[in-house]
Amino acid sequence: MTQQPYHKYVFDTENRKFVGRFEEMYANEEREGFDSWFQEDLRHPTKQGSWELLKNYRFSSILDIGCGKGAFTNQLATIADSVMGVDISQTAIAKAEQRYPGIRFSTATAEEALSAPQRWDAIVMLEVLSYLQNWEEVLQKAAAKANYVYITLYLPPDPIGFVKSFEELREVFNTLFSLEKEVLKNNETIYLLGKSKHHG
Ligand SMILES: C[S@@+](CC[C@H](N)C(=O)[O-])C[C@H]1O[C@@H](n2cnc3c(N)ncnc32)[C@H](O)[C@@H]1O
Repeated sequence: MTQQPYHKYVFDTENRKFVGRFEEMYANEEREGFDSWFQEDLRHPTKQGSWELLKNYRFSSILDIGCGKGAFTNQLATIADSVMGVDISQTAIAKAEQRYPGIRFSTATAEEALSAPQRWDAIVMLEVLSYLQNWEEVLQKAAAKANYVYITLYLPPDPIGFVKSFEELREVFNTLFSLEKEVLKNNETIYLLGKSKHHG
């Protein structure tokens, strides 16, 4: 994969380490002239695939964790009565608030968002789990807080991120959720929608 200008803020590829300087990455977008992960482009395959899968659903509320600058959160607003986007980066959230003033955004980690008492009809996490050391726990908490959870994840052949294989992701997901939809594209991006098995 071609090294994009935002990659250095996320992974140290030479030393195979997670860096996670998301705030700095978003703060430097204008100066360095990039759009992190081309996230504003709704024609990007992950977003298009997600939209194909979700567009016929209707949810009473959606929490979009790791929403970045909010482009997909804004699209989710068309299939939900209410939507909220959270991201660890306050700069990303400031950009999202400026672009989509009708949507509620908040700076929060996945952990913080899932520790709040509020329940959601659906929780969405597009391309986030690889950055969460405790991704299994986060999925567990999401299962306790929502009726549905939707995730997408791109995995390169030898991932530096915390999720190491589709097999381990599927195993955890299937323990917590009844699978509604699964799509694996080009053996590199997985799309999973599940209904929580959590009761009470
Ligand atoms: C690959 S981007 C995906 C952005 C957006 N979901 C999309 O698909 O366009 C991952 C996002 O996760 C956020 N993130 C990373 N770690 C996080 C955490 N612990 N809690 C919340 N957000 C986090 C990053 O700031 C970044 O915006």
